Amino acid sequence: MAEWIHTVTARTPTNIAVIKYWGKRDESLILPVNDSISVTLDPQHLCTTTTVAVSPSFDQDRMWLNGKEISLSGGRYQNCLREIRARGEDFENKEKGIKIAKQDWQKLRVHVASYNNFPTAAGLASSAAGLACLVFALAKLMNAKEDASQLSAIARQGSGSACRSLYGGFVKWIMGKEVNGSDSLAVQLADENHWDDLVIIIAVVSSRQKETSSTTGMRDTVETSILLQHRAREVVPKRIVKMEEAIRNRNFSLFAQLACADSNQFHAVCLDTCPPIFYMNDTSHRIISCIEKWNRFEESPQVAYTFDAGPNAVLIARNRKTAALLLQRLLYFFPPSADTDMGSYVLGDKSILKDAG
Ligand code: DP6
Repeated sequence: MAEWIHTVTARTPTNIAVIKYWGKRDESLILPVNDSISVTLDPQHLCTTTTVAVSPSFDQDRMWLNGKEISLSGGRYQNCLREIRARGEDFENKEKGIKIAKQDWQKLRVHVASYNNFPTAAGLASSAAGLACLVFALAKLMNAKEDASQLSAIARQGSGSACRSLYGGFVKWIMGKEVNGSDSLAVQLADENHWDDLVIIIAVVSSRQKETSSTTGMRDTVETSILLQHRAREVVPKRIVKMEEAIRNRNFSLFAQLACADSNQFHAVCLDTCPPIFYMNDTSHRIISCIEKWNRFEESPQVAYTFDAGPNAVLIARNRKTAALLLQRLLYFFPPSADTDMGSYVLGDKSILKDAG
């Protein structure tokens, strides 16, 4: 048997939704009930690094996440693998004596090693970075020629929010109309240089794994919440138009107002679910009050907040000066300690305090 191994390593940042995706109209294809918009974080931080390898000596597909082997048998991983395998092209590396014909990708088994540099499943969109990175790395490995939008439609089948991590900057996931999901994909609204005044600070309130996964939570919401129908049909379509306008014009007041309102409505929809889902905790609520008071005190909003499916706060400051003030306030009111239930802060390009969790 030939003794070669062909590997590719990729790194993908996570993204944070400012208009949330919550609820699927098709569970297996992962088709959402509304459009969503996100900001992709700096690839240096809160990212997943994935190495994929293929060799004739591998006899089964295997995957390790943060050093621990996990099963690849789940439908979502299998969907991504199947879609990329079907798009693989001929590959040759003469130096290493590797020659793979496109039909060989169906037979060759892959090994995947993935590492998150942030808490997994703690409401920091770890599945977004993870599945986007897996799809991107597999596409490179198998020499697939699809562009980022086409890859986003494949990553979507791994985890909905993952489709938005294929681009930097501001990204919109278009829900699409087709029943086969072919038009449910991500597009870039503006690249990472468009609005570089913004500074994102993440308050890691808890790095514990959340009790209700996004997948289970949104399934329960779709089945039981009346508010979700109103949100998806009446509220989000209008908010999407306004958010695109806010991003285009770098209008921070409008951006903050929409992002905060949408985060709050998403959590209201979680409360409207039976049984109710509580993702935020007391510390999260106190952070909201603190930012709201500050914003009301100023002429226009200085900081936007948004919370995903967990208690951690994603705070977006309008510029560096505001970010410095924000950090000062956070450290004063929420010093990291067991008593305050505050873990650490992650700022721009470095983690400034060690995670207590
Ligand atoms: C609250 O993408 O994790 O972060 O599609 O079931 O894998 P699945 O769910 P997932 O849900 C993310 C929900 C959210 C909001 C968002 O990112 O838009």
